[in-house]
Amino acid sequence: MNERIYLDNSATTQVDGRVLEAMLPCFREYYGNASSVHLFGQEARGRMEEARREVAALLGADTREVVFTSGGTESDNWALWGAWRAAGGRPGAHLVTTRIEHPAILATCKALEAAGAEVTYVPVDASGRVDPAAVQDALRDTTLLVSVMHANNETGVMQPVKEVAAIAHGRGVMAHTDAVQSVGKVPTRAAELGVDLLSLSGHKIHGPKGVGVLYIRKGVKIAPYMTGGSHERKRRAGTENVPAIVGLGAAARLAGEHLPEMAGRVSALRDRFEQGVLEKIPGAHVNGDRSRRLPNISNISFDRLEGEAAVIALDLEGVAASTGSACASGALDPSHVLTAMGLRAEVVQGSLRFSLSRLTTDAEIDRALEILETVVSRLRRLRNRR
Ligand SMILES: Cc1ncc(COP(=O)(O)O)c(C=O)c1O
Repeated sequence: MNERIYLDNSATTQVDGRVLEAMLPCFREYYGNASSVHLFGQEARGRMEEARREVAALLGADTREVVFTSGGTESDNWALWGAWRAAGGRPGAHLVTTRIEHPAILATCKALEAAGAEVTYVPVDASGRVDPAAVQDALRDTTLLVSVMHANNETGVMQPVKEVAAIAHGRGVMAHTDAVQSVGKVPTRAAELGVDLLSLSGHKIHGPKGVGVLYIRKGVKIAPYMTGGSHERKRRAGTENVPAIVGLGAAARLAGEHLPEMAGRVSALRDRFEQGVLEKIPGAHVNGDRSRRLPNISNISFDRLEGEAAVIALDLEGVAASTGSACASGALDPSHVLTAMGLRAEVVQGSLRFSLSRLTTDAEIDRALEILETVVSRLRRLRNRR
């Protein structure tokens, strides 16, 4: 067992050894530019196209629908800006999203608003779910795009993307989903969801950082985000990051193979962890819809606890967890996701996110439970003395 216990897999994951092995020859031997005509280039391209097939297989997509990017943030930015620009970049053009999106969407929406677009932020209920009817009500004649995440990164709660996409299409509106957290955790098939655009990221599925995909359904037109060479069939300029793309391909293949393990062993381990917390630690409450959740995330609020202090205390004991998303942590801003679910400020402040992966073991969960129990009671005692 590792001495340190990593329960922050929603922030990022350990690169699978098999992914690293697949990447290394791209640095050493197959280092050509995938756009070059010579053999070095063609070898690199061959590997890149194999990776595209692996990602396409995981998404149930055609290879021509898979475009490599620098990660989830770029894919999200591109989907929104690309849809808006393709429609003429007109002031007053309207987008619909939710209050619980990742900053990659929310900050992009703010930037679009500054450029003249209008955005509606649909609320969620107390269980962290978006109501498709609320999306329907938000649609206008000027709406271009609806963007609803597939699963939330803080609570793991799954969103009704299929229903939302059908509603959007009924009004001739494009549908995007940020599937960065759901890909590799639950089956995420683009055609079944019915979306036009879908974002994913390599480092959340035991692949390398700085690589992702924007799935663009056949026939869907969005404007390029990067200008430059004619890479990725003129859709995304810039010399392809072949080693990272090859790593993402291997990670996608492995993620597909491990899906049953996520639904079985990992989900059972998460439930055992949660059950243990609820039994051993008084004043603990699980946040979010417990039946419609990713198998690996547990978001728990503890009465009379300061979440940030708990993260530090757990870290000192060798357990890595987080309060909400990594991008928000450090900023001490209360989680916008839990706040949108209507939780009181002190409940939000006392919440912790534990996220498992297929590499998490039974022994690690047992040990993490013991440490968590000790840390929570120690912090509560200190708090009582204040
Ligand atoms: C839901 C969601 N969207 C987007 C991102 C950004 O992805 P990347 O880190 O690849 O830029 C993340 C990462 O935290 C995420 O959880």
